[in-house]
Amino acid sequence: MWSKLLNTVLLSVITTQLAFSQSIPVGPLPSLPTAVTSGYTQQDLDGLWQSVEKGGVSVVPANVTHVLEPVANFSVGPDPPRFRPSYLQASTDSLKFPKGFLYGVSTAATQVEGGVKEGGRGPSIYDWGCHILPLFCNNENPDVTVNEYYQYKQDIQRVKAMGVTTFSFSIAWPRILPFGTKGSPVSEEGLKFYDDFIDELLKNGIEPVATLFHWDAPLNIVAQYGAFLNSSVVDDFNNYASIVFQRYGKKVKTWHTFNEPRVYCSFYAGFPYESKYPDGVNTTTAPFTCIPNIIKTHAVAVQTYRNLVSEGKIAKGKIALKHNGAKPVPFDPNSESDQEVVERVADLGVGIFSQPIYVDGNYPQRVLDTIPARILRRFTEEEKKIIKGSADFYAIDAYATGAAKTPPEGIEACASNMGDPNWPNCVDTSPAAGHSLATGWALGAAGDLITRGGADTSQLLRYQLNWLTTTYPSPGGIYITEFGFAEPFEAMLPELYQITWDERRSNYLLDYLNEALLAIHEDKIDLRGVFFWTPYDNFEWNLGTPVKYGLQHVNFSSPGLDRAYKQSFFQVRNFFEQHLSN
Ligand SMILES: *[C@@H]1O[C@H](CO)[C@@H](O)[C@H](O)[C@H]1NC(C)=O
Ligand SMILES: *[C@@H]1O[C@H](CO)[C@@H](O)[C@H](O)[C@H]1NC(C)=O
Ligand SMILES: *[C@@H]1O[C@H](CO)[C@@H](O)[C@H](O)[C@H]1NC(C)=O
Ligand SMILES: *[C@@H]1O[C@H](CO)[C@@H](O)[C@H](O)[C@H]1NC(C)=O
Ligand SMILES: *[C@@H]1O[C@H](CO)[C@@H](O)[C@H](O)[C@H]1NC(C)=O
Repeated sequence: MWSKLLNTVLLSVITTQLAFSQSIPVGPLPSLPTAVTSGYTQQDLDGLWQSVEKGGVSVVPANVTHVLEPVANFSVGPDPPRFRPSYLQASTDSLKFPKGFLYGVSTAATQVEGGVKEGGRGPSIYDWGCHILPLFCNNENPDVTVNEYYQYKQDIQRVKAMGVTTFSFSIAWPRILPFGTKGSPVSEEGLKFYDDFIDELLKNGIEPVATLFHWDAPLNIVAQYGAFLNSSVVDDFNNYASIVFQRYGKKVKTWHTFNEPRVYCSFYAGFPYESKYPDGVNTTTAPFTCIPNIIKTHAVAVQTYRNLVSEGKIAKGKIALKHNGAKPVPFDPNSESDQEVVERVADLGVGIFSQPIYVDGNYPQRVLDTIPARILRRFTEEEKKIIKGSADFYAIDAYATGAAKTPPEGIEACASNMGDPNWPNCVDTSPAAGHSLATGWALGAAGDLITRGGADTSQLLRYQLNWLTTTYPSPGGIYITEFGFAEPFEAMLPELYQITWDERRSNYLLDYLNEALLAIHEDKIDLRGVFFWTPYDNFEWNLGTPVKYGLQHVNFSSPGLDRAYKQSFFQVRNFFEQHLSN
């Protein structure tokens, strides 16, 4: 029965942290529930959950179904021995991050909250996808994850012990609007959860930074019209955004509309979004139907935000979206063709979102030349006006970069053929292309191979920041809204003392922070903050829990989902103690 082979998520190694390709055998596509478009009763909501619950929704461990109060006398314990390898004692020892620099951690609702049915929350497309086709999520699901929904007070204390000044989290749209759409009911209990979460941060002197959308589309809007494949999403999202801005806009002063929309739109190439393709959309074109819808949705939400600010209804703050991707380096620096591939990856991976917003309301020329208008809708002049300038700062999730090599078929043959597996970027994605021809070496220490990417390429951070700030300048400066490293083989280690010795991650983080200081002091980059991905191990989407990005270990088989600090947590804390301005 499971016969059709689907390439669900095929992402270039160069463009993202979550770089992996995965083939999922499926039979006839599972069908989405019937969308609820009126009435919106409890029975309707139960019906949506029944479509998810074929495999059952997990129960939270019995002793953590109430909010755990912060631990009294909280202490992180002594530093690990052989702290900070001496070769990392760099020329940056006396340098400081500028005053007001944001030092923070970053999370996403689906990956950490759990409590998916609590407080009247509606199901998201991830709840549905992971339960209907468990293989899609490594036989795991977002039901409990790290149970932050109940453990956030303790978690905030644990993060506070790191000395952070800020905490970036995402709000789950289906927690606020269980059915997603404008005109459907708003969950007061859902709103209250984030009130409490935000208040707890503020009470502890930590500034909240909120993201409106980190991939958890309400199941009901996917069932109704395919979510970001249909322009109806603009109004529905704007309604959600407006409710959230008005509720939290006096306390939250830094906002992101979307997280990594380039990655998110690529998900439309497969399950579960392919269950609801409009006529004429297929796996090749769906990601490019999504892109203009997200850009427009972003721009309209930003207008709403700015209007609320100017009407004095909420505090003056700032808003942008979190970009992802990187400019690679040429595999062969002497090859003009590889140089061109570098520019293609930059334009098609980052520029496709950044140029409209930061430069001229339009896509980069290489994008226009490669992707026909019938697939990537062009913006009207009116749309361009609201898109251009729709961000107050630049935000990038800056993980690894890679080497870009010309594909065997050549750029032109690839760019003009939508059926080419390398279209539209036209970069050779084979593992053999992942190093530098000039030196024969890898670009940096590899992260866990489960991610098929994610190396320590910190030495290229200044190159990235110089490129981004000159190509997409923003008067509000630039923020690194995520960076982090999946420690190789961490999931295979049996003992806590082995797990917490995460030396490769520590080296990466310190290396990276050293480069960030040099970017600020030598290159005069207006870098205003960095956010670590992530404070605790979590549910890494399709890869599940075996991928470890946390500064803290989470024991997923212990009843209390016990947390433990890794060495990297101490490294980062001490680094900032030394380098943060008072
Ligand atoms: C920790 O709490 C206990 C009571 O639970 C108290 O006796 C002790 O003095 C506290 N220690 C510190 C260092 O605050
Ligand atoms: C978009 O969604 C709306 C509302 O469900 C629907 O009426 C319309 O036909 C959809 N448009 C396309 C192009 O699928
Ligand atoms: C998808 O549709 C486009 C035209 O809209 C077509 O050129 C392309 O071959 C189709 N791709 C697949 C995989 O069917
Ligand atoms: C995780 O918890 C289980 C159950 O409490 C325990 O047996 C195991 O040793 C723990 N693992 C680690 C790495 O601490
Ligand atoms: C939950 O219960 C288990 C077993 O009774 C206990 O070992 C664990 O410490 C408890 N966890 C919390 C967070 O209270």
